[in-house]
Amino acid sequence: MDELILIQPDDWHLHLRDGDALATTVPAAARCFGRSIVMPNVVPPATTVEQARDYYERILKHRPAGSDWLPLMVLYLTDNTSPEEIRQAKASGLVFGCKYYPAGATTNSDSGVTDLSRMDAVFAAMEEVGMVLQMHGEVTDEDIDIFDREAVFIERHLGHIAERFPNLKIVFEHITTEQGVNFVRASSQNIAATITPQHLLYNRNDMLVGGIRPHLFCLPILKRSRHQQALIDAAVSGEQKFFLGTDSAPHAQDTKETACGCAGCYSHHAALELYAEVFDEAGALDRFEAFASKNGADFYGVEYNTNTVTLRREPWSLPDQVAFAGTQMVPLAAGEVLNWRFIA
Ligand code: NCD
Ligand code: ZN
Repeated sequence: MDELILIQPDDWHLHLRDGDALATTVPAAARCFGRSIVMPNVVPPATTVEQARDYYERILKHRPAGSDWLPLMVLYLTDNTSPEEIRQAKASGLVFGCKYYPAGATTNSDSGVTDLSRMDAVFAAMEEVGMVLQMHGEVTDEDIDIFDREAVFIERHLGHIAERFPNLKIVFEHITTEQGVNFVRASSQNIAATITPQHLLYNRNDMLVGGIRPHLFCLPILKRSRHQQALIDAAVSGEQKFFLGTDSAPHAQDTKETACGCAGCYSHHAALELYAEVFDEAGALDRFEAFASKNGADFYGVEYNTNTVTLRREPWSLPDQVAFAGTQMVPLAAGEVLNWRFIA
């Protein structure tokens, strides 16, 4: 197979940032995706419907002429989010989910939730109105090893939330472990997961053996190869519970190549092509469309995109750098050769 035609895919987990960054990130998203779930960890975070609407309008100013790519907005949950805000979010037609960040877990998560047990009224409202909960599933307890944060979150929290709110739709975001895959598989239809290209393509050896590679540092952190393999198996299975969410998270080069570098990989220079590589390698190109273009739309309860995209088997080199907000960044798999190329 040398040409792949897919229903236009969507990205169910994306960071566009704000201000000058939008000139790079919005056209990159619109390049091949129909819609993108836009994560709200901007500064200040988008915690209200009004802030989400303002952010939506800033984003749309950068949409290329002729494109109908759509940003699907998300509210950032804090200790102070009210059930009323959830109802307004649902009524707005603009907000497609609410993101749970444990306070301090990742980039710009300082205003995140400090105590999950206080979220009951908010989760109940989300369950009632049918608002998706997007879960950054890691504990932040100091005594828990960073490589165990996801598995411990499942044991201590996620299982209980799923039990207590059986009709709440939860996307376990950017899963990184075998335990994450198993949990999602064993759960009801209301639990699904996004998987990123970096967690499919790399493991912690790629990040750490022979020297530290800061451009592979993202959160949740890359795990050992056994986990990478479990993620590949889940993604290429075509199972409805697993879908594309790049977690493309741009950071300027100098903020990653430093003594205390930021977490996040930028992949929107070649997101679809990077995933195609994984499916090709696994001999599963026939299931790529389910993962990229159908499963997420089914979970969120929206129609598939009506147009198609074409990928061709044609080796090309990824750039070493991408211009970004007056400086530059080093994208995922910088300088490497990919076999699949996005045509239109
Ligand atoms: C993301 C970012 O930079 O906003 N970073 C990351 O490592 N994935 C935040 C997130 O999704 O955790
Ligand atoms: Zn993210």
